[in-house]
Amino acid sequence: MNVCTLSTHPFNDQKPGTSGLRKSVPVFQQPHYLENFIQSIFNSLQDYKGQTLVLGGDGRYYNREAIQIILKMAAANGFGRIKVGQHGILSTPATSVAIRKYQTFGGIILSASHNPAGPTEDFGVKYNIDNGGPAPEKVTEAIYAQSQAIDSYKILDASDVDVDNLGESKLGEMVVEVIDSVSDYAELMESLFDFDRIHQFLTSGHFGMCFDALHAVTGPYAHRIFEQLLGAPTGTVRNGTPLEDFGGGHPDPNLVYAHDLVKIVFGEQAPDFGAASDGDGDRNMILGRRFFVNPSDSLAVLAANAKLIPGYQGGLAGIARSMPTSQAADRVAAKLGIDCYETPTGWKFFGNLMDAGRVTLCGEESFGTGSNHIREKDGLWAVLFWLNILAVRQQSVEQIVRNHWQTYGRNYYSRHDYEAVNSSRADTLMENLHKIMPTLKGKSFGRYEVEYCDDFSYTDPIDGSVSQHQGIRIGFTDGSRIVFRLSGTGTHGATLRVYLESYEPDPAYQSLDPQVALKELIALADEVAHIHELTCMAEPTVIT
Ligand code: G1P
Ligand code: ZN
Repeated sequence: MNVCTLSTHPFNDQKPGTSGLRKSVPVFQQPHYLENFIQSIFNSLQDYKGQTLVLGGDGRYYNREAIQIILKMAAANGFGRIKVGQHGILSTPATSVAIRKYQTFGGIILSASHNPAGPTEDFGVKYNIDNGGPAPEKVTEAIYAQSQAIDSYKILDASDVDVDNLGESKLGEMVVEVIDSVSDYAELMESLFDFDRIHQFLTSGHFGMCFDALHAVTGPYAHRIFEQLLGAPTGTVRNGTPLEDFGGGHPDPNLVYAHDLVKIVFGEQAPDFGAASDGDGDRNMILGRRFFVNPSDSLAVLAANAKLIPGYQGGLAGIARSMPTSQAADRVAAKLGIDCYETPTGWKFFGNLMDAGRVTLCGEESFGTGSNHIREKDGLWAVLFWLNILAVRQQSVEQIVRNHWQTYGRNYYSRHDYEAVNSSRADTLMENLHKIMPTLKGKSFGRYEVEYCDDFSYTDPIDGSVSQHQGIRIGFTDGSRIVFRLSGTGTHGATLRVYLESYEPDPAYQSLDPQVALKELIALADEVAHIHELTCMAEPTVIT
């Protein structure tokens, strides 16, 4: 078999964002585009000859073609073995599991997470390092630098590899090993949670749940774990077959995009528990009967109840949350006497803290929760964590959350997204905020007085690396906050995210609709940032 070296030219837009390189399918289908990026990943690595990589994706459109290209390029570049998920399927958390379990050199995940899929929708490539986590910035910067200098790539001239049947085959000198997409992941879940107890609970006849896989990657995982291993009735998992276009849906587990599930859980015959995951399986949404659990609260509740879970009985080393995530988890950490770290947006910032043993649980407001069992956020893990808590406490989701607020106070929280905003207008909005930043401290707006206003910068406590410009924070003297940042994962124009948070210690006032509780802060955000005027939008596109 021939190794072909093809000449190419750099594309100037291959800078990885919050979560890998994410572009529309037609962009990835341009001649040499995917190949350039993959070769740039390989070129940025050292001593990878003969090594093993894990490869898989969320099953979206172009997944199968990309798998073949990457296999042939890996063989041509001298990798020794690729462990590829059957049918090219591996969720993001399952990839992290495989990298860690088999101690591979790294892994490649093909996904654009929750973005819609199809011939004109999105595709993406993420590189994970040997700890199982997303490549840190120094690695993604090196990949980008390679992509700007690339003039050739290597690919094997060979026919396609069978990735539908388990087992090993040879591609040139390289071994291609097709692995079961689910079993390693399911085994790890079984080691963390009390499966017997959850099984009893789910088969007791007193508890009903509904999981919506949104036609994305978690379907096979959910069928195996909830229905086969834990005994939930068939039909508990909805939309459990991964489709290349995710059934035309938007597999983002929130109240807007998971509307069918929301209808069921807020309907007449509502089950006790509802959950959904996203395109690549790392996000989660948790619902009780007619009750939504805010992801920031979910992190805090998991932390407060961790001692009930076999895998976490020994206690938590610490908690980390991304900066815009509410401060609910900080209150639990304070009570437990452990550290709480505030990191920039993106899971990659948790890796060092977990590797150094500083934190056990991590979370983001964007429906991401996880722990040091892997180095990615993990949707089904969060669902299992909740099920284990419910099985032990025998209370409803709503009771557990209300109870939590009574103990710790409630951090009212909401995120307002303005999507597909003209990029230069979005930049102007952020620049304007930058300009007025120094003048805001000490100013009063109604009952709110500004305590600080800054552009969040993070110094990693483990390797000392500094990440600047991570979002503008306006903090008020009562602990309330408004945060503004531009998304690093969008593919159409700019997405402005406005994060709003206020604290209510009094149980008598903990039952408001967050949009009502945050009304003044919402108005204040517009007053300082001129959101409506600059985005030309009267309302946010998505409110979570
Ligand atoms: C978004 C979320 C962020 C998450 C990332 C990848 O990034 O806000 O928390 O880590 O997706 O799932 P953003 O678009 O805000 O840059
Ligand atoms: Zn995702």
